[in-house]
Amino acid sequence: MRVVITGARGMLGGALSRQLPSVHEVYPLSSTHLDITSLQECRRVLSKIKPDWVLHTAAFTKVDEAESKAADAYRVNGLGTRNIAIAAEENGSRLVYYSTDYVFDGTRGKPYREWDQPNPLNEYGNSKLAGEFFVKAVSRAFLIIRTSWLFGSAPHSPPHFISKVLSQARNGKTLRMVNDQCGSPTFAEDLASTTAALMALDVRGIYHVTNSGSCSWFDFAREILKQAGCEVPLVPISTHELPLAARRPSYSVLDNFCLRIEGLPELRPWQEALADFMGTL
Ligand SMILES: NC(=O)c1ccc[n+]([C@@H]2O[C@H](COP(=O)([O-])OP(=O)(O)OC[C@H]3O[C@@H](n4cnc5c(N)ncnc54)[C@H](OP(=O)(O)O)[C@@H]3O)[C@@H](O)[C@H]2O)c1
Repeated sequence: MRVVITGARGMLGGALSRQLPSVHEVYPLSSTHLDITSLQECRRVLSKIKPDWVLHTAAFTKVDEAESKAADAYRVNGLGTRNIAIAAEENGSRLVYYSTDYVFDGTRGKPYREWDQPNPLNEYGNSKLAGEFFVKAVSRAFLIIRTSWLFGSAPHSPPHFISKVLSQARNGKTLRMVNDQCGSPTFAEDLASTTAALMALDVRGIYHVTNSGSCSWFDFAREILKQAGCEVPLVPISTHELPLAARRPSYSVLDNFCLRIEGLPELRPWQEALADFMGTL
């Protein structure tokens, strides 16, 4: 099958671009090949390739910057997603849109299921929810995959949590990590292989896909340092001690409920996935 990947230079786009060519004819598109904020360009590119699937990973992902650049975030995550959905629909392509745990406010106190009510706390989450809204309004054959706390190889993306932790540790700094936000770290390569499994089944609707287990950023940092063999002081702090522009949910663990009730394999524990990734560094 012909598969277009938007945001192919990003972390998840890169993982999909590495894994899918063994089974599919893949067209990995970066923003230089396709700027999703232009409907005309989306139409031109997709009508030329005529893909069976569009895996839409491209996004404005800078959560704090989205507070001061909200229009940019909505232009990419909202309207850009609408443009991709329109062009995919016109070409008979099935669409996979990647969304986020940050569509939830974190007050449920237990893992969120696919049909729980979103209520984003920040502009990034709101703009990704706008993307979900457009996908549902425009596309007849869509799959929305919500994921969280992605890690993996990302040479062209801003440094992610693991690289920040390791570089601070290398400088011998005391690390201060938030201990009152809980989520599920997810390896982009594991999400890519589950995407391939969902494509093979040709399912529709919303799926939560994360590695198993959950932790705080403090726990995540402690495990990274343990696996890297680094001994540096690590201090737990509360969210209020870290002045960030965007509010974040205190508990945004996603229950992979639909995967489970359909009998699909759940993803391995995040610590195992982390060990695989750390082995590649
Ligand atoms: N990272 C996380 O923790 C996380 C958590 C939950 C959900 N998600 C979602 O998962 C998806 C993948 O995230 P990621 O971390 O892999 O993202 P990423 O590494 O930041 O990559 C995003 C890509 O989007 C592309 N992009 C931005 N604006 C564009 C535009 N106007 N036109 C075309 N492409 C554009 C960029 O392409 P160029 O490099 O070519 O400019 C970039 O490579 C996103 O939808 C994100 O919202 C991520």
